[in-house]
Amino acid sequence: MAETVKNKIEQVVEQACAADTNIFGYDIWTHHILPVVQNAKQLAPRFDADPEIMEFAALLHDYASIKDKALYADHHIHGPIEAEKLLKRFGYPQKKTEAVKEAIATHRASVTMKHRSAEGACLANADAMSHIEHVPSLLYLVYIHHGMGIDEGRGWVKAKLQRSWQKLREDVQELVRDTYEAALRVL
Ligand SMILES: [Fe+2]
Ligand SMILES: [Fe+2]
Repeated sequence: MAETVKNKIEQVVEQACAADTNIFGYDIWTHHILPVVQNAKQLAPRFDADPEIMEFAALLHDYASIKDKALYADHHIHGPIEAEKLLKRFGYPQKKTEAVKEAIATHRASVTMKHRSAEGACLANADAMSHIEHVPSLLYLVYIHHGMGIDEGRGWVKAKLQRSWQKLREDVQELVRDTYEAALRVL
């Protein structure tokens, strides 16, 4: 049953990524959402997080901002609302839905680290880890999407990577330390 719901959610999120209204382009599906799902599954045991909740939360964590750019600034608030609508529609159990919503609500650096569930902490780490592992996506974002100049873009990406690094728990930092240090040297 969870597998069927997961397939439906995958379809909805991938379709939203492919839509013309998605300001991030279809690449956000292949270069952000799917990597975050992979990372979340990999990190789940370290955080004692429920792997099923992690998969749903990772799939849906940025869905609100993909669906509607106006929701980007507060997508940690709109994300849980959008997730609930979909999960309800597909008959996902209420208790698990609450856990998915909770994880999405606390996935951003700008949101307080306090009161995070194991799943919320795991998702925040999986998300930040994916930024460090996908530097070309960040370069694409600043140069193509934001149209920044070379130095402005370089500074933005560097600051983004440093923020992502700060979000990582120490043991997760060790998993991506080589990539992080190499990226900083290049930037
Ligand atoms: Fe996000
Ligand atoms: Fe994200």
